[in-house]
Amino acid sequence: MHAFLWLAPLTLLLLTIKLILSKRSSVRLPPSPWKLPFIGNLHQLGLLPHQSLDKLAKKHGPLMLLKLGQVPTLVVSSSQMAREILKTHDLIFASRPILRTAEILFYGGKDMGFAQYGEHWRQMRKICVINLFNAKKVQSFQAAREEEVAHLMDKISQACSLHPLEPLNMSQVLNLFSNDITCRALMGKFSGEEGRNILFHKLIEENILLLSGFNLVDYFPSLGWLSSLLGLDERAKRISSKWEAVLCQIIQEHSIRNGEKTKDDGFVDSLLSLQKDPNMEISLTDEIIKALLVDLIGAGIDTTYIALEWSMSELIKNPQIMRKLQDEVRGVAFGQSMVKEEDLSKMCYLTSVIKEVLRLHPPNPLLLPRESMDSCQIEGYDIPRKTRVVINFWSIARDPKIWDYPEEFRPERFIDNPIDFKGQDYEYIPFGSGRRVCPGMQFAISVIELALANLVYRFDWKLVDGMVPEEVDMTESPGLTMRMKNNLYLVANSWV
Ligand code: HEM
Repeated sequence: MHAFLWLAPLTLLLLTIKLILSKRSSVRLPPSPWKLPFIGNLHQLGLLPHQSLDKLAKKHGPLMLLKLGQVPTLVVSSSQMAREILKTHDLIFASRPILRTAEILFYGGKDMGFAQYGEHWRQMRKICVINLFNAKKVQSFQAAREEEVAHLMDKISQACSLHPLEPLNMSQVLNLFSNDITCRALMGKFSGEEGRNILFHKLIEENILLLSGFNLVDYFPSLGWLSSLLGLDERAKRISSKWEAVLCQIIQEHSIRNGEKTKDDGFVDSLLSLQKDPNMEISLTDEIIKALLVDLIGAGIDTTYIALEWSMSELIKNPQIMRKLQDEVRGVAFGQSMVKEEDLSKMCYLTSVIKEVLRLHPPNPLLLPRESMDSCQIEGYDIPRKTRVVINFWSIARDPKIWDYPEEFRPERFIDNPIDFKGQDYEYIPFGSGRRVCPGMQFAISVIELALANLVYRFDWKLVDGMVPEEVDMTESPGLTMRMKNNLYLVANSWV
């Protein structure tokens, strides 16, 4: 009798353990490469994670589960699997992970790009689309775009007439242009305040360094205290306070106008009038406005300039393509001092060149990280809730099963080809797809098309003396965005 009394709870315990174990073993996780204790797969990321992950995916498949420190990370490397994440399970994967540096820089997640999925993000996205990104708004920015592009052309003209043989640092010139045009859309036209744009340029460089850097806490959330100890938080806070000073000043200047509209208003003016709108669903605080500005300045400047930098590199490296593009652009705009926006619709080769640049050199090779809000199944694999997701578009864009001669720059592949970057063709998603697709796509493409058309219309371009096209250095630099590792230097000769 005694023995039986012991046996009953023991049997119950064994049955419970068996049930838990059988439940566990029935979980089927995606394949994983071998990992080290504690750091998991972190050591396999290398300096250029998109390239390292591409190599790993070739061994382990298009759906791979890594452990980056303590964080389970799903790496997606085929168009079919990207479709599963971004279309079939779009809602489950519509959130972003909380990143420590972003939390500090964006006022505790009050921005849009790094915000978690939810009501705040929905409201931010709605405000940005209505007041900045919709087709009508982008169109209304045409005159400003043409003025900024003309300013860029004048700058290059002056430089090449003063020092005809001296190479221009195109990376720097294009970065400053992208900075000016984005700041103008966001904060309106400044008069005689180039210094402020330079300040933004410096702050953005610091943000990019911080966001691209390795923050221990993003991979070991349980070691949060180490971030303060190592001074990482302090660095982010220092930069954040510099942003705070300049953004407060901007808000103050724009508030003084008290709703008085001018043709040179920017996004910040729309935000300030929404702040006073009694029908607003949320209270648009100054902190939210500042977080949005830091977000959009960063997202806009770096990506646009990178696309232009790689475009010029590919064109100088491929003189026949440069000639073909110049023939098209000069044919359409012949006799004009500049290419105008209405000319662009007649330039199909220009569109193909830009699409090919965004395929081979996507400014965000891993898009932006997502996080699953619930568990789900993909291809028979179980994906747990709170898994970080990285979509390796760089790998998809070079998949030989999709693209002929994937490593070669061939704009012709996009001629008479309906494939587009709008987020419906999962083999070509430089702007992402689904609910978190880049809202700045049309804004960016309008700037890139007009700037590139004018660069090749107004000037003939040469490499630095003694250099041949094969020597153009196409090495990628590490970071959240994929810049060229070394600056591009070119010599310009006026054509008109
Ligand atoms: C998000 C690419 C230009 C603002 C994104 C994402 C990508 C991307 C890949 C993530 C999408 C996803 O998670 O599915 C690009 C490229 C650009 C560009 C390649 C230029 C060539 C711009 C510009 C702006 C902008 C000019 C604003 C001025 C944003 C914002 C988000 C975003 C705010 C976050 C959206 C959200 O989370 O809801 N972009 N972008 N981007 N982009 Fe862009």
